[in-house]
Amino acid sequence: MGIQITPSILNADLAALGAEVARIPSADWVHVDVMDNHFVPNLTLGLPVIESLRRRGGLPIDAHLMIEDPDRWAPAYAEAGCGSVTFHVEAARAPIRLARSIRALGARASMALKPATPIESYADLLPEVDMVLLMTVEPGFGGQKFLDVVLPKIRRARLLIEKSGGECWLQVDGGISPETIERCAAAGADVFVAGSAVYSAADPDAVVRTLRALAKAAAD
Ligand code: DX5
Ligand code: ZN
Repeated sequence: MGIQITPSILNADLAALGAEVARIPSADWVHVDVMDNHFVPNLTLGLPVIESLRRRGGLPIDAHLMIEDPDRWAPAYAEAGCGSVTFHVEAARAPIRLARSIRALGARASMALKPATPIESYADLLPEVDMVLLMTVEPGFGGQKFLDVVLPKIRRARLLIEKSGGECWLQVDGGISPETIERCAAAGADVFVAGSAVYSAADPDAVVRTLRALAKAAAD
């Protein structure tokens, strides 16, 4: 599949979401951060907003659920038409059952790991998911500083993915910018979330194109 850029709308103008998504036509997906004020200390948006975005068409939705009890709530995001649904392994009670039910509803299933959660504990689940999201900040807020300490885990995750067949995408999320994307791509990430780097710019789509070019060059 190659390099993909998935801007996060967390730092966009949430009162003008439809127009904000239309500003990033070069993106592959739009990354939507769902936070419940329990799994993370922040509250954002949920299913009704995602359903509205779906009705507008446009970019496929990459839903990142930072919520407690994803076993109960995540399948509805697949039903609502999200192309990819990511749950946190730290919150899931039955991650294999959950990934299977997301896939059965026609979405890509993805598991997310916070910075201190080891990938090795979840290596056997790789055939059950379509993407692994490695957080490169503590989840909860946009605009935080990239954690270099996660880079070795990106490299180890890439090796484990290759061992398990290489189908799974490897996404990084948090502090991704033109300054940090190359080291993530060189470490083996292929899907890049960028929030503040994209939406703090006067021309967000130009940043998307720059990020893609930098990641492609670093991955080669
Ligand atoms: C943080 C979210 C991210 C966030 C990224 O918990 O999961 O998707 O929006 O924002 P930046 O790119 O500003 O770190
Ligand atoms: Zn996110």
